[in-house]
Amino acid sequence: MSEAATGFALLGGEPGVRALVDRFYDLMDLETGYASLRRLHPSTLDGSRDKLHWFLCGWLGGPDLYQERFGHPRLRARHLPYQIGIAERDQWLACMKQAMVESGADAVLADRLHAAFFTTADWMRNKGG
Ligand code: HEM
Repeated sequence: MSEAATGFALLGGEPGVRALVDRFYDLMDLETGYASLRRLHPSTLDGSRDKLHWFLCGWLGGPDLYQERFGHPRLRARHLPYQIGIAERDQWLACMKQAMVESGADAVLADRLHAAFFTTADWMRNKGG
């Protein structure tokens, strides 16, 4: 895949990924529909913003900023302390989709990323229902 085709490049590199992540956590704070997702997170979201930003840069085909700092993400294991079922998965995905729309991501790119996010979020489920 050429450099220009990565989600990282299409979102506008690091500043674009950061804008998406910031919108994602702003919405999680603001929208009552994401309240149970918000409750799983720490009271301050500053660390969550940084970690998701670093992770997504690499996951979207850009620099591996998360791995440089923390090693292999072991994402499923790192989510085991949190109870994640279908409702939590769907709130995460809806919040991310809204963030993509509101941060101005191209619609075709947003659909492509939504499908990829679904696979990752579904794999994170660790409880029934
Ligand atoms: C399926 C629903 C999901 C829920 C309920 C959820 C919830 C959480 C929570 C509560 C944390 C801890 C936040 C903190 O320590 O500040 C976290 C961390 C994290 N999440 Fe998720 N998450 C979900 C899906 C995802 C997906 C799909 C991705 C990536 C595409 C992701 C990437 C991350 C990363 C990179 C971290 C930081 C891990 C660390 O270094 O501790 N999460 N998530």
